[in-house]
Parts: sequence; C-alpha cells; structure tokens
Amino acid sequence: MMMTFKPANRASLLVFLVICTKQWHSNGIQVDPPKEIKIIDPGHFGYLEITWTPPARLNNIQECPKLYQLEYFNAYAQRWEGIQTPQRTYSAQFDLMKDIHVRVYTLLGGHCTNNTWVKSLNYTEVVQKPGTGHLGNIVENFTCVFENMEHLTCKWHKNPKYPTNSHLYMYYWHKELENTEECPEYLLENGIRIGCSFTGKPLPDFTDINFCVNGSSAEGSLRHTYASLQIQDCVKPGRANKPDLKKGPQAKFKLSWRKPVGNIPGHCLEWEVQHIKYGLRWKKESTIIPTMETEISLALNKKVQNCFRIRSKLHRYCAKRSIWSEWSLKKCDSGAPVF
Ligand SMILES: *[C@@H]1O[C@H](CO)[C@@H](O)[C@H](O)[C@H]1NC(C)=O
Ligand SMILES: *[C@@H]1O[C@H](CO)[C@@H](O)[C@H](O)[C@H]1NC(C)=O
Ligand SMILES: *[C@@H]1O[C@H](CO)[C@@H](O)[C@H](O)[C@H]1NC(C)=O
Repeated sequence: MMMTFKPANRASLLVFLVICTKQWHSNGIQVDPPKEIKIIDPGHFGYLEITWTPPARLNNIQECPKLYQLEYFNAYAQRWEGIQTPQRTYSAQFDLMKDIHVRVYTLLGGHCTNNTWVKSLNYTEVVQKPGTGHLGNIVENFTCVFENMEHLTCKWHKNPKYPTNSHLYMYYWHKELENTEECPEYLLENGIRIGCSFTGKPLPDFTDINFCVNGSSAEGSLRHTYASLQIQDCVKPGRANKPDLKKGPQAKFKLSWRKPVGNIPGHCLEWEVQHIKYGLRWKKESTIIPTMETEISLALNKKVQNCFRIRSKLHRYCAKRSIWSEWSLKKCDSGAPVF
C-alpha cells in the first residue's frame, strides 16, 4: 500500500521535512499514543472531523513540543494517507459506505527527548463500520457527467429491491455550503427519480462535492448511497464538427478541425482521429491517430475511400479523468467509389 504525506499546513510540512523520527522509549520518557480518538460526523456526507486527546502521561510535560501523526485510509483514492500536525483535530473526506480506519501516533521533541523527535511505538486506532441495510444500497452506479463544462448531470440505477412506491432524494454538500442542499431538478423515468440536473446551479470546481441518495421505505432499510467527486474530473467535451480535408503540399493531405464551442480551454483537449479505409466489397480497416493538435497531415492511398472522424477528452494535465466526447460526423475523401 502506498503512503503519501500531506501537510496539514506549511509549518508541519517543514517540521516533517527536517525531523527524523526515532522510536525510542528506553533511558528516558516513554511516548504513548493518544488516549482516545473520536470521529465527529457533522452530516456532510463523509467530510468527517477526527479529534484525539493527548496521552495521559505526556499531559504533565507541557513545555515540550508535541506532534501527532494521523494516518487514515482514503477509500476514494484506495490508499493510506498521512499528515503530521500539532493540532488535536483534523478533517478529511471519507467514504461512508466503507470502513473508516484512522490511526494516530504521538511524537515528542525538545529537551524532553534530547532534541530529537521520538514517536510512540504504537498508535491508537479507531475502525468504524458503515451503516447496515439488509437490502443493500439504495442506488448503484452513481455517476456524474459535466457535458462540455456547461451542464452537470448525475445519474444512478435504483436498487430493484427498493419499493417502487417510495421516493428517492438526493442531497449534496461542498465546503462553500453551510448546510446540505437538495437536488435542484430531478430527472424522472416512469415517475421514478433516476438522476439530478444541476443546470443553472453551478458547482465549484477543484473541490470535493459530496452526494447522498437516501429515502425510506416500510419494507426494509436500505443503505444510503454516498459519492464524492470533483466536477472537472467528469467532463465530457461536446461533439466537434466534421473535420476538414484539404490537399496539401507534396501529395499530402491536411485534416483539420476546431474545438467545440464552450468553456473548455483548447490546450486541455487531447484528440483521437479515426482513419477508416473502405476497400473493395466494404472491406474496412481503421486506425486511431492520437494528437494534441487540431490538424494532422497525412498521405492517403487513393485506391480506397478514406474517411475520418474525431473525438476529444480532457488531457491529464487539466483533469484526473475525463470522458470521451461523441465522435464527430465522418469526413470522407472523394476517392474510390466504394459505396
Ligand atoms: C544528547 O545528544 C547529544 C548530542 O547528540 C549527545 O552527545 C548526548 O549523549 C545525548 N544525551 C543523551 C542522554 O542521550
Ligand atoms: C497497539 O495498539 C493497537 C490498537 O490500539 C492494539 O490492538 C495493539 O495490541 C497494540 N500493540 C502493542 C504492541 O501494544
Ligand atoms: C436524507 O438526507 C437529508 C440530508 O442529510 C436529510 O435531511 C433527510 O432527512 C434524509 N432523508 C431520509 C428519508 O433519510
């Protein structure tokens, strides 16, 4: 498992870079882990506050600096993360549908430990199981698509065991909101809520948006479904127009196109050009040409018919993930008469 350390603030980063911790308890003070860890859920769908109390024995040693090393399992990123902080509280994003697993060590420094940082041999930990629901989660496959960075839509599949006569609700929260808010406009299919449209209700990018789908039924309990994502990571660019094919110099051809109109910066888009060659009797061959440019030059075999279509997605410099756009319409040369 990978461990990454994130600074709680600049000061603790500096401390972390310069200290070399020692696990040490002989000939001196034994460093104990914190006495108790508490998890406080303010109802923000997974953004939890972790607090801890200092070890009893170290409470008397007021004059020596203390640090805490917190490690937690980030279920969304599937890895352990760690921070060091002089505070006794830290907030982080958790997946409420998975185990919440947190460990805290104590570090003691200064003249108490001859000016080296001494870390407790053991940690205090807390593992909190997710809520139960014997029928499973209310919804599955919660996904959001930010169409051309203009319209955000989230969709889900209802658990078939969920009674049809009861309602689903979707709420969301992010750090700029004091309270959770309900979906501004539900998408319906046969009277059942299958998604939510945020059109006209912009959400901030580069910040976690936490979602919860809940509901209640007489027939049994279902686990609420939680999701957390950043909207720049679910962009699906708009469909580009048909590309242009022109004869260039030295028997080469130039295929060019324009980025779709909208908010996506051109340098964020990566492209795929599909080159389809139709030979005799509809024999079809196709190759994919990846590019960051909006034109390519190529030599064409004029014995076949050459067709091109293009699609785009956000490059990983601009977003962690992206969804391919729809393919453009095909542009074909006036080559061989195949069809
Ligand atoms: C404290 O550190 C100094 C310098 O590193 C060393 O000379 C000294 O022996 C240490 N004292 C103890 C009690 O470990
Ligand atoms: C370390 O702490 C964990 C959790 O608090 C405990 O289960 C374990 O027994 C401890 N190990 C030692 C060696 O004290
Ligand atoms: C769903 O969650 C919202 C926000 O936390 C809450 O106000 C509401 O009562 C919940 N509804 C059900 C049916 O659990």
